[in-house]
Amino acid sequence: MSNVAVKIINLVKKFGNVTAVNNLNLDIYEGEIFGLLGPNGSGKTTTLLIITTVYKPTSGDVEIYGYSVTRHGDIVRRLVGIAFQEPKALWVDNPYELLLWHAMVVGYSVIGARRVIRDIMEELDLWEHRGKFISELSGGTRKKVEIAKLFIQKPKIAIFDEPTAQLDVTTKHRVWDKIKALRDEGSTIIVATNDMLEAERLADRIAIIHKGTLKALGTPSELKDRIPGGDIIELRVDNRIPDGIVKSLIEAIEARKLDYSDGVIRAYVNRGEEKIAIAIDILSRNNIKVRSVSLKEPTLDDVFFYFTGARLEEGRIQ
Ligand SMILES: Nc1ncnc2c1ncn2[C@@H]1O[C@H](COP(=O)(O)OP(=O)(O)OP(=O)(O)O)[C@@H](O)[C@H]1O
Ligand SMILES: [Mg+2]
Repeated sequence: MSNVAVKIINLVKKFGNVTAVNNLNLDIYEGEIFGLLGPNGSGKTTTLLIITTVYKPTSGDVEIYGYSVTRHGDIVRRLVGIAFQEPKALWVDNPYELLLWHAMVVGYSVIGARRVIRDIMEELDLWEHRGKFISELSGGTRKKVEIAKLFIQKPKIAIFDEPTAQLDVTTKHRVWDKIKALRDEGSTIIVATNDMLEAERLADRIAIIHKGTLKALGTPSELKDRIPGGDIIELRVDNRIPDGIVKSLIEAIEARKLDYSDGVIRAYVNRGEEKIAIAIDILSRNNIKVRSVSLKEPTLDDVFFYFTGARLEEGRIQ
């Protein structure tokens, strides 16, 4: 992955004296699913609405394949599609008409539109709701109609703003699979979410943002590896371990902390998967039999709290 599809450059957005986006810089690569992870009010939706030319930046710019949202709005709007966090579709009566209108706008023939709409509505269990008033639909169903727009449109850049916040677990998984399929068909995807599981399951790379500022960027496993001593190796051993060996073990695996009691070693390390081999090697060279080994990785939840500071204040284990 090397082609930059979306380039966010020194982006600032202020609403009066609220700074919603505070000098954000990000490169989003062609063909990836990029997660924008942040708590309520961190500036996700504002950023996405700038990318889609709904808002103008206060300063800075966003380029889509080199086209600026401020200077080449018409071209950008042809490349980018968004499923809004809070869909508003009051000007048409029912989901079918809404999706038909959308499909025609993005270039389908009437026959092509009817076919693709039926397929996607059936996949998302929307077909039975096709003739209802949009105002009668549940929040989750309305959201699925909004998401369906992008599966129909298949834009070069597909933006989902909290796509599954209101969906039940089964439907969530189905939507995640469909978003991945959309990527595999060639779209670049941006997903805003405050759901760690969603970011972890869906995103190839994640930007953690907090109060409009970028806090961390990387793949889920890179982010986890950046927590100091975030991995926990647990080794169950047979014999008692002499103090000297415990000391050399700590040094060899660069443990930030190591507990040893009742035949169980618990070591807090970085890059745990590499350190397991080193630990086993040292113990077996000293004739200490290892009965079992396990590795606990931090969750993205830990990562998020680590980078936004909240967990540190609660004195998390290091
Ligand atoms: N149109 C607006 N007018 C004034 N302030 C706004 C406007 N839109 C957003 N804000 C403010 O900008 C900040 C960022 O809001 P934004 O909606 O971008 O956050 P978010 O990360 O999408 O949050 P959520 O997870 O709740 O959707 C908030 O403080 C919000 O109150
Ligand atoms: Mg939002």
